[in-house]
Amino acid sequence: DTTVTVQPAQLGFTAVAKNLNDTVTVPEGYTVTVLYRLGDPINAATPAYANNGTDTDFAARAGDHHDGMSFFGLAATGNAPDPSNSSRGLLALNHENITQRYLHPNGPTGTRAGEVRPEAEAIKEIEAHGLSIIEVSRAANGTWSYNQASALNRRITPLTPTQISGPVRGNALVRTAFSPDGTAGRGTINNCANGYTPWNTYLTAEENWAGYFRRDASDTALRSSKVNALLARYGGGGERPGSYRWAFVQPAAGVSDTRFAKWNITSQPGAAADGTQDFRNEVFQYGWIVEADPFSPTSTPRKRTALGRMNHEGAWPGRFVAGVRPAWYMGDDAQNEYIYKFVSAATWSAADATAADRLATGDKYLDSGTLYVARFDADGTGVWLPLVFGQGPLTAANATYAFDNQADVLLATRIAADLLGATRMDRPEWTAVNPATGEMYCTLTNNSSRRPANVNAANPRAYLDVKLPQGDTVNADPPTASQATRGNANGHIVRLREQGDTTEATRFTWDVYAYGAGADLDRRNVNLSGLDATNDFSSPDGLWFSRPTNAGGLVNPLLWVQTDDGAYTDVTNCMMLLGQPGRVGDGTTADITNRVVETNGTVLTGTATARVGALPGQALRRFLVGPKECEITGIDSTPDGRSIFVNIQHPGEDAADPNRPTSNWPANQGTGTLNPTGPRPRSATIVITKNDGGVVGL
Ligand code: FEO
Ligand code: CA
Ligand code: CA
Ligand code: CA
Repeated sequence: DTTVTVQPAQLGFTAVAKNLNDTVTVPEGYTVTVLYRLGDPINAATPAYANNGTDTDFAARAGDHHDGMSFFGLAATGNAPDPSNSSRGLLALNHENITQRYLHPNGPTGTRAGEVRPEAEAIKEIEAHGLSIIEVSRAANGTWSYNQASALNRRITPLTPTQISGPVRGNALVRTAFSPDGTAGRGTINNCANGYTPWNTYLTAEENWAGYFRRDASDTALRSSKVNALLARYGGGGERPGSYRWAFVQPAAGVSDTRFAKWNITSQPGAAADGTQDFRNEVFQYGWIVEADPFSPTSTPRKRTALGRMNHEGAWPGRFVAGVRPAWYMGDDAQNEYIYKFVSAATWSAADATAADRLATGDKYLDSGTLYVARFDADGTGVWLPLVFGQGPLTAANATYAFDNQADVLLATRIAADLLGATRMDRPEWTAVNPATGEMYCTLTNNSSRRPANVNAANPRAYLDVKLPQGDTVNADPPTASQATRGNANGHIVRLREQGDTTEATRFTWDVYAYGAGADLDRRNVNLSGLDATNDFSSPDGLWFSRPTNAGGLVNPLLWVQTDDGAYTDVTNCMMLLGQPGRVGDGTTADITNRVVETNGTVLTGTATARVGALPGQALRRFLVGPKECEITGIDSTPDGRSIFVNIQHPGEDAADPNRPTSNWPANQGTGTLNPTGPRPRSATIVITKNDGGVVGL
């Protein structure tokens, strides 16, 4: 009998109240330490960050917009992994994007059409993206710091050489002037969430990469219809200047600097048809899961193309069982995109956890296998549909897209998934796997394009954000246009249980763990999980289970939920909650009515049946609220669970003038004092510890 009953741990803290303060608020009895901020130097030679827009050398400083993150234990001395060490380790973390204006004295220049972007500004912005790998340690007094002089510290940026690995390696679509044989790439960008491997490597996900590339109107006529279809499906079609206009840098006369040319994917008329004389194919080197070896600062990250190409949010593994093929679960974060699973061709061998050549071990498990996309059926079951060349519609004869081989399927993952009839989801973000049960959870952050006519069982809400009258629990009145929030504004968390509880399964059952909502919203149709003031939230994004190794001895690890809110920021800054996970199928179903008022006053209605997991009032509790205008994203702990690392992304991002910041965090951590002429805000990694030294959250 695989139906194990697991006793959740008891949450040991008082819920933090929603608030708009400019500080990180945690429960009584906990301490926040700011560890690693935008601009902090990662070698001895780089000066401290001035934080006024004059700093340079971002390849030797912390980047911006800290995001997904993993802690890798280090041996007490030396460079070897020790997955049991909770006082010294490497933090690998993503720098997803930038708040451009804070990186320059008075904001960026050369940003309008027809202007030239200054080279130094563009280099600073490019290098503030990517990854950091930094050594951190806990002193005898319990205080965490990063080691500025560590030889293991490293930045990986959008200019760091990478290898193309897996089925797409050498494909015609990844050949460029930089790598005429299509085996190498340049850099990684918009690294959102993460994953890990048990052989001590870090996985980073390339999410909103398409926006960075310039494409001129002339390009469409120079491309094949197939490539145009591919560019259109991934958001890179048509004329576009590219985010931050890096393609508009003009290097000094006589200097052949392809760092900037790489951002212009327009084909050069008359250039060789194979793409090896220009940079038209740089865009196809992005959209992958990338594996990096944090313990080897000179190693070359590998793009694992077998895991598909999309707006990769992250890649979280299922359980590793000897003799069973392991799997990684992935969300494609865009409206109406899909959830995927990659199942390795190789069965797990525990000896590989200590392999000396970690990236070669990655070759074994991540370069060949089967990529699946999820279909969620209305009866609470689901199917993993294989994205395999030659099967079903994925052939050269297909009228929509002629697939020539598996590399073609992977480059056009989204098109292949469309053809298989996968379920369109409300923006799949992070995935997390309960280590005790193997059940997989995925945040569906929100979807403003969901309407009553296109809901499906797994994405049932397309509602109006209508508040309850005083004392009422169900709002029966038709909404007015002024109340309208269209689409799934607050998001939900779907979860699935694999058939046979194995990562190799091709079928599953599913339900919804929790629906985001304000506590004051219609409880029959909107606040389906019955959230109250201690746990109401919107737009779940980051998601992570407590490590099973923690010193609290958790039988069923707890679930951490982080928010990236668009609908609730009038009431509270973004937050992190801690919850008891329960099991798939432990709840009920609810017949709901979606009522939407379009801006023109048209009222749309429709019914749906929602699957609602059991979420008793105290099963989910708010643990943290962040500073102004931030997103909470990125979390890991030490193996003992006594120190939790969390990232605070883009505090104060809405300021129009970098010299009139709308947040001073983290300089004002603890006080929350907001001074409009005070320090500029900085994305940062924090450490949370319990004052009595116990496991965080218990
Ligand atoms: Fe980078 Fe989908 O969040
Ligand atoms: Ca995210
Ligand atoms: Ca998000
Ligand atoms: Ca963000």
